[in-house]
Amino acid sequence: MQPIICVEGVTKAYNESAPILQDVTFKVEPGQFTAVVGPSGCGKTTLLRCIASLMQPDTGSVLHRGQQFKEPPSWLSIVFQDYNRSLFPWLTVRKNVAFGLRDKNGRAERVLAALRSVGLEHAADLYPWQLSGGMQQRCALARSIVVTPQLLLLDEPFASVDAQTRTDLQDMVMDICRRMSLSALLVTHDIDEAVFMADKVVVLSTRPARVVEEIEINLPRSRDQLSTKESPEFLHLRHRVYTLVRQQAHKSTIVASTDRT
Ligand SMILES: Nc1ncnc2c1ncn2[C@@H]1O[C@H](COP(=O)(O)OP(=O)(O)OP(=O)(O)O)[C@@H](O)[C@H]1O
Ligand SMILES: [Mg+2]
Repeated sequence: MQPIICVEGVTKAYNESAPILQDVTFKVEPGQFTAVVGPSGCGKTTLLRCIASLMQPDTGSVLHRGQQFKEPPSWLSIVFQDYNRSLFPWLTVRKNVAFGLRDKNGRAERVLAALRSVGLEHAADLYPWQLSGGMQQRCALARSIVVTPQLLLLDEPFASVDAQTRTDLQDMVMDICRRMSLSALLVTHDIDEAVFMADKVVVLSTRPARVVEEIEINLPRSRDQLSTKESPEFLHLRHRVYTLVRQQAHKSTIVASTDRT
């Protein structure tokens, strides 16, 4: 089967003097959970924007099952870090989730099923400002899965919640992806999270971002916050990813200090 997403030689610059992405190439296979890690500001969100067709690469291409596509397609959903800005404060949870569903057939049932998947059915008639941060992010997640996408793009979706909520959300997203046979592409700063959740971790370099290494994460599923994270295999993979990211972060510090001199 063709990859869900094939990123081929993608290069992108916002202006000529500062390339952001340089010849980025990798694939997301059907059902695969891929995590992208890299130094702060290296171009991860820019990469997601190119993949979602929110912007076009300068060179290279993004293919879905071997085909080019334009405009954010219906088989793809995005969850951003900033749930405050992604939910409509004047709509209830139920209406926020229903918002993206153009097809009215079975709408109420589909919304309810999505809310159930994230454990929010009891909060359907509340407004976003009546929810905790974790509940708001679960609402954003329900809205992204109600359209039954094939691919979930997650841009630091757990960065604004406390540590306990974060691990709960990790488990919830992995469970949803498994049940819905969803492919996912997660951008995260958190190396533990990347290794814990993913089948493959793509490590990006400092800006301009290119792929430094792709690391297969062959840890068995289902994964457990304690036993998986305590296993020697997990610790070994975490060490490897951490070392690569640290090397890149170190390079960006050197570049920054050279810029200042
Ligand atoms: N619309 C834009 N116009 C001009 N420059 C931009 C724009 N969006 C981002 N940039 C610049 O591109 C670079 C990469 O930004 P991007 O947000 O893709 O990085 P990131 O890896 O997601 O960062 P972070 O780790 O902080 O989330 C940054 O230097 C940023 O200032
Ligand atoms: Mg970003």
